[in-house]
Amino acid sequence: MCGIVGYVGSQVASDHPLDVVLEGLRRLEYRGYDSAGVALVSPDGRLSTAKKAGKLANLVEELDLRPLPESTAAIGHTRWATHGGPTDVNAHPHVAGKLAVIHNGIVENFASLKAGLVADGVEFVSETDTEVAAQLIARAYESTGDLTAAMTEVARSLHGTFTLLAVHEDAPGLVVGARHDSPLVVGIGQGENFLGSDVAAFISHTKEALELGQDQVVTITPDTVTVTGFDGLPAEARRYTVDWDAAAAEKGGFASFMDKEIHDQPHAVADTLLGRTDAHGRLVLDEVRIDESVLRSVDKIVVVACGTAAYAGHVAKYAIEHWCRIPVEVELAHEFRYRDPVVNERTLVVAVSQSGETMDTLMAVRHAREQGAKVLALVNTHGSTIPREADAVLYTHAGPEIAVASTKAFLAQITAAYLLGLYLAQLRGNKYADEVGEILIELRAMPDKIQQVLDRADRVRQTARSMVDTSSVLFLGRHVGFPVAMEGALKLKELAYIHAEGFAAGELKHGPIALIEEGQPVFVIVPSPRGRDSLHSKVVSNIQEIRARGARTLVIAEDGDTDVLPYADEVFYVPQSPTLLAPLLAVVPLQIFACELATAKGLDVDQPRNLAKSVTVE
Ligand code: F6R
Repeated sequence: MCGIVGYVGSQVASDHPLDVVLEGLRRLEYRGYDSAGVALVSPDGRLSTAKKAGKLANLVEELDLRPLPESTAAIGHTRWATHGGPTDVNAHPHVAGKLAVIHNGIVENFASLKAGLVADGVEFVSETDTEVAAQLIARAYESTGDLTAAMTEVARSLHGTFTLLAVHEDAPGLVVGARHDSPLVVGIGQGENFLGSDVAAFISHTKEALELGQDQVVTITPDTVTVTGFDGLPAEARRYTVDWDAAAAEKGGFASFMDKEIHDQPHAVADTLLGRTDAHGRLVLDEVRIDESVLRSVDKIVVVACGTAAYAGHVAKYAIEHWCRIPVEVELAHEFRYRDPVVNERTLVVAVSQSGETMDTLMAVRHAREQGAKVLALVNTHGSTIPREADAVLYTHAGPEIAVASTKAFLAQITAAYLLGLYLAQLRGNKYADEVGEILIELRAMPDKIQQVLDRADRVRQTARSMVDTSSVLFLGRHVGFPVAMEGALKLKELAYIHAEGFAAGELKHGPIALIEEGQPVFVIVPSPRGRDSLHSKVVSNIQEIRARGARTLVIAEDGDTDVLPYADEVFYVPQSPTLLAPLLAVVPLQIFACELATAKGLDVDQPRNLAKSVTVE
């Protein structure tokens, strides 16, 4: 939530710092798009700012009308509103005297701090918590004459979550940042340095990055990067090289990032599987640096995650319980954290997150570790907070996911969860190596099968376009089809703003069937007829039951399944696969359906209303 960019460059830099910052904001706009703003300090020490409510395009228009002067230091912000509505005045940066500040997060003690400042005669122009931080840093600068010291002093006094960046007229060649429970990475250039909420902010300039730790302050000049702790002492930050390039964060000829990311899915799955076996074909997950004896003694797994990532966790439950015979609970991270869950040193907590920054999931990770549990993170974004705080990480290799609605990360999360399940089964002796090997062969065939689903998607698109006036769609599934149904419903809600619900098909007769009336569209995810005997026939019966009550049945079934034909208004076939792996295929038509329907309604599928990628506040 909220995208932050900072830049300092010597005047020989080919780009104008403002352009660098605007490009960074364009790449970070998925983090929030309620308003955007920039602040620049020119070499002769003049601060200038511009900010505008609405998307970045509004700010760019404003800058065309009212250009800002040359500069060597610049900061930029794209906002997801928390304190104060999405107006020009509440947009960042916030100025206090000669200083400008941008902020991601929430300063929880802002009211008491503000009261103190107001009592001292300070006047506020916005409703934001950020302006309080700006005023405090400006005052601290007056007494210290040092922007880094001023930022450090104020950072210590703030509660809540924050990344703050500041520039000051009297310090024209530097940008100072601080982070506490909110993301901030450094991009290392030649004669220029960068700050960003994530590496996308500067990926077209450098792939060399520094991962800042918790409670650190960073000061960048064109030639130096200095990292200190909130105690003012020098601190370490991990240097790494980003393993994807700017092209991966572009639309590459697709109409939207979402469309591109849906089409990236065969690669996301293949890359997540890549390099995870040794010369003998044995699964090796080197990153899982939790002692093998600890993993052998685990007697319960708890998956914590939110939204789509939680649905990946539900799929993981079916696979891990089946392969490893360990009980698996899946819990929304925000519920887990606040209900005194039973976890101990024999519990393995698996935190699933694309961004690695979701605050609810991070809080669940911290709580689990406090209870003595080991935490394994399944995360897509390198340099993010959750893997840093977990005991181990298994990275998904989906590449950058820019569209707000998660697609390729979901498939990569499911894939990584399968790998984890197989690894535990191998380690704990639940499966022989050749059994694990056979499932790995099936898994490696999945990228081609996903490609086949993509190649056949025209009918799904046609159906979606014919349904622009639909006001409600239901989704039914059993077994691993149940989380797929919930994910299909979530995609439709968030992209097309249509009421949608996913149900376990077996639950139908316990209530939801009352919703069925003439013409009600219902997607049904049908399990393989070759899988567990009764599962398939039970779902086919469910289709008959809703069809008999007037539902329009949209069926996702495996190639060759003719049993569904008499009861289906439409069938979207997907290639055959083992039941447990089928979610990787069945969800794809549902993603395409939601994307196409929203597009046909004229909606922005990359930036749906009210949402932001990376929910970094609780
Ligand atoms: C839905 C979606 C969200 C995220 C959720 C968790 O399309 O993207 O539901 O899955 O906010 O985000 P991460 O995976 O970054 O923790």
